[in-house]
Amino acid sequence: MYALDFADLTPELFLAEFWQKKPLLLKQGFKHFTDPLSADELAGLALEEEVESRVVQCGNGDWQMETGPISDFARFGERDWTILVQAVDHWHSEAATLLDPFRFIPNWRIDDLMVSFSTPGGGVGPHLDQYDVFIVQGEGKRHWRVGMPDNSLKQFCHHPRLLQVSPFNACIDVVMEPGDILYIPPGCPHEGISLENSLNYSIGFRAPAQKDLLTGLADYLIDNDISGRRFTDPARPVSNNIGELGSADLAQVKQLLQQLVSDDASLPLWFGQYISRAKHELDLQEPDPHYQAEEIAEYLEEGSELTLTGGLRCCYHQASSEGSEPADIALFINGEQYLLPGDELTTAKLLTGQRQLDEQQCRHFLELPERLGLMVHLINLGYWHFTE
Ligand code: SIN
Ligand code: CO
Repeated sequence: MYALDFADLTPELFLAEFWQKKPLLLKQGFKHFTDPLSADELAGLALEEEVESRVVQCGNGDWQMETGPISDFARFGERDWTILVQAVDHWHSEAATLLDPFRFIPNWRIDDLMVSFSTPGGGVGPHLDQYDVFIVQGEGKRHWRVGMPDNSLKQFCHHPRLLQVSPFNACIDVVMEPGDILYIPPGCPHEGISLENSLNYSIGFRAPAQKDLLTGLADYLIDNDISGRRFTDPARPVSNNIGELGSADLAQVKQLLQQLVSDDASLPLWFGQYISRAKHELDLQEPDPHYQAEEIAEYLEEGSELTLTGGLRCCYHQASSEGSEPADIALFINGEQYLLPGDELTTAKLLTGQRQLDEQQCRHFLELPERLGLMVHLINLGYWHFTE
């Protein structure tokens, strides 16, 4: 279990003063840090077809990039390269626990755990990211510089797939040691150059862009065959200029679009489905044959525990109640929606709030046939599995 040491800060103060605002260095944010995986294990993951990885080389100012699967690391030599592996939390359960200390931010904002191994001189060059990130230093030392957002910085490509930024002034300039943590808000230029063989863990966040939201909404409307309202103009005056696209008409188009997204009943449904869809391949092990409800009930009664598949996105929404009864709960798991009665909040929290269910929490699913039915369904999809 990794415990975050915020020193003089608290999660509340961090969110108020730094989150999305300014970079922060947490020296020894993880005390006595031990790496959850080794460089060899990371190289093993990079061999896999389903795992997204890339190697960046930067000898003599000449930038090269190769995408995975990657084998034969000897050809890259002893220095000036780094390998970056995306969504390691999907494939390595120990590494996935590194996300847990950052869960004072809700699930849906967390993207994935990216892990990099760098040789001396290795790095991806100075650049900006669109997302917040915490970078944890694992084994080895790496020199990190971070600056504040600066509109005068120019972005350019030394290599078609490596967007970099011109030299920047650093507000943090540090040699990171195992257990040190950097928080970097979106748009802050940063660069890490390894001093020795070193591992870095990036806890990345996601923030959908308007374009992605609209595309997601459009997909939802198409998939659910929702046409919505049509443009109407019962109060149309005579037009003096038939070529004109009038402001009043445009205002009505705007209203029609706004109305589509301001429907409080459907907004959570499409957004929940959209945001809970996995971005990277999941390591789903669907049981074959599927379990029967009686078998699962027996295992849970006997004291089995359950584990959530790494990287599975889960969240729920419950609208504030208008009557005496609590509103139904929309549960979202991997892009699917499940509707639960309003008094099933504990169930929703158990299914979205942790990666392990202990014996007692598992027994909660035995109390109602519908609850057990839901858990059987989730186990048969490979979303939850019996802890080994
Ligand atoms: C890394 O090289 O580990 C992190 C890359 C980045 O700055 O995004
Ligand atoms: Co970055």
